[in-house]
Amino acid sequence: MKGGNIVRTTPAGRVLALAAALTLTLSACGGDAVAGGQDRTILRLALNQAEGHPSYIALQNFSERLEERTDGRVFIDVYANETLGAQAEALQLVSDDIIALAIVSGTQLENLHPDFVVFNMPRVFDDVEHQLTVVNDPAIVGDLHTSLEDGENFTVLGGLTQGSRHLYASRPVTEPADMAGLRIRVQESPLHLAMINAMGGSATPMAYGEVYTAMQSGVLDGAENNEVSFVTQKHFEVAPHLSLTNHLVGLDYLIINSDTLGELGEDDGQAFLEEWETAYLEHAELWAQATEEAVEEARAGGAQFHEVDEDAFTQALEPLQERFLTTPAQQALFDAARAAAGE
Ligand code: GCU
Repeated sequence: MKGGNIVRTTPAGRVLALAAALTLTLSACGGDAVAGGQDRTILRLALNQAEGHPSYIALQNFSERLEERTDGRVFIDVYANETLGAQAEALQLVSDDIIALAIVSGTQLENLHPDFVVFNMPRVFDDVEHQLTVVNDPAIVGDLHTSLEDGENFTVLGGLTQGSRHLYASRPVTEPADMAGLRIRVQESPLHLAMINAMGGSATPMAYGEVYTAMQSGVLDGAENNEVSFVTQKHFEVAPHLSLTNHLVGLDYLIINSDTLGELGEDDGQAFLEEWETAYLEHAELWAQATEEAVEEARAGGAQFHEVDEDAFTQALEPLQERFLTTPAQQALFDAARAAAGE
């Protein structure tokens, strides 16, 4: 085994593994199978969401099913709340074989391979169902999902939806002109930076976990995200006006260190892939309900939701396609995704 993302340990050894993961100083490959204890393979997974988020719940259930199916041999340790770092760092840890798995937004991958930009575009997906059809179709995404194996040493296993993303700020917005002067946080993506500027605002890239404080202190006036993050990150407390811009349907990816899956062996590797499939299907089911609950919770907490002039935003966003889809490969992916709309 090349690196340290598979930890073989007993329950007692898990404490050591946890400490190692938190300090990130130990290459954790060394098995510490204590006499009489059963070997366990712990796959550490970095997540930037809180425990109430549907991604956490679906991944936690994934871990439990996998552990049961493999008679305790394989276990996914989900580290929530950016405990292992923000997504840019988590991605590096997977690439460096220090942890096995991470959930990263498509915007992170856009910085590593230009074709990922296609699925980060506004209006590429009509809705969650359309998005999941595309991201689960190997004929469309097969090459893309293996495209980082050589350069970055990780494989994309598939996607979890981020749902529709909207703008929220200290005041309501109904058309692009209302965005003038609003400093809006975006993910670390050139496309999303251009997107908020095209919508009329002033974009500031920042890691997810820093957004609440930045809005609270007035460094930012708002952000753009889905209703679930609006609530689970408590953003509604400091930017209570959510304007339903519906500017894009976002996508998270599960990435795995490319050596790791093979190291699980045939049976446990198969169990891993099958339980991952159950996980992303469960996530899609949880998503709709979590969104409804988030809206209720935000309203109860004083947030307000506003309709917008969607056509005006569509028009403002249109030039992004020409600017960011610049290669035949990108255009082909975009066209394949659009052809799957309404299937
Ligand atoms: C969503 C998404 C995360 C992403 C976050 C963000 O919550 O699921 O992966 O990091 O948006 O805006 O940074």
